[in-house]
Amino acid sequence: VKEFHHLGLLPAGEVQALVARAGELARGAAARRFPGRALGLLFLAPSLRTQASMQRAASSLGLDLVQLSGAGSWSLETRDRAVMDGAAAEHVREAAAVLGQFVDLLGVRAFPSGKDLARDWEDSILEGFRRFAGIPVVNLESTRWHPCQALADWQTLDELEVPRRGKLVLSWTFHPKALPHAVPDSVLTMAVQRGMEVVLLRPPGFDLHPDVMAEAERLAAVSGGSVEATEERDALEGAHVLYAKSWGSLTAWGDPRAEAALREPHRSWCVDESWFRAARPGARFLHCLPLRRNVVARDEILDGPRSAVVLQARNRLHAGTAVLEALA
Ligand code: CP
Repeated sequence: VKEFHHLGLLPAGEVQALVARAGELARGAAARRFPGRALGLLFLAPSLRTQASMQRAASSLGLDLVQLSGAGSWSLETRDRAVMDGAAAEHVREAAAVLGQFVDLLGVRAFPSGKDLARDWEDSILEGFRRFAGIPVVNLESTRWHPCQALADWQTLDELEVPRRGKLVLSWTFHPKALPHAVPDSVLTMAVQRGMEVVLLRPPGFDLHPDVMAEAERLAAVSGGSVEATEERDALEGAHVLYAKSWGSLTAWGDPRAEAALREPHRSWCVDESWFRAARPGARFLHCLPLRRNVVARDEILDGPRSAVVLQARNRLHAGTAVLEALA
């Protein structure tokens, strides 16, 4: 593994090897040690799980840690040939190249602006670091992808003994804000790579990007899985897993009023026990966290036996350690 940007770009065998290694680490295997090597962590957006798990992973691997948190205070230019007379004081070319002198691998988190879909979809901060750092880059959640979350989720599905060909429903839920697409896009990718029967459940106006759906269909053709989309909750019939997540509308990207008008009628999309009526007995509830209780899912779900959200978060440590170990 030379970088960790998007699960869909890795051969299935490499993803499976990382999941297997994460499982070994979860069962107590010792991580390899890399004395004298350093990990940089650049967070241009907030994080609890990713930040904490990567710090602990670095420690277990014996990596020195260089941590930079620039959220809200650090603006990077990413456009080629830009005349930098605006807010950005540094170009990603220099920022990436300089960090590449100090550390041996670099994790980067950068969220979309939410203003211009085409520009956001370029994923220009993450891509800038990939182009100019000269060292392996780990995507800690960009506009497009959150592969560390997806890898941990695959590990979690294995631990929960969800069959490879099992049914996973990825459902939109209500949220007071328009959230990014990196998690749902990555979960969809991961589940079809795993060979699952994947159903995308969402109200009108909340499709995932057509490029993501097309890639999922290509991956499903290779893995033997499947992917389809519906607006009907009876999609949960026979499901092994309900993976809940909210995301913003692509059709109203950059227009908060229009986006809110699309979202508002769907406040009832808050997961409660009734969603599982036709699911398999013992079907599990997954969510990447953070999660707003009684908006995204009811207490009865989060505090009940279906919820695997803390196991998912715990596995961020083991999956993250496996990724850093492969790259260091
Ligand atoms: N799921 C996840 O990435 O959590 P954080 O935003 O807290 O890192």
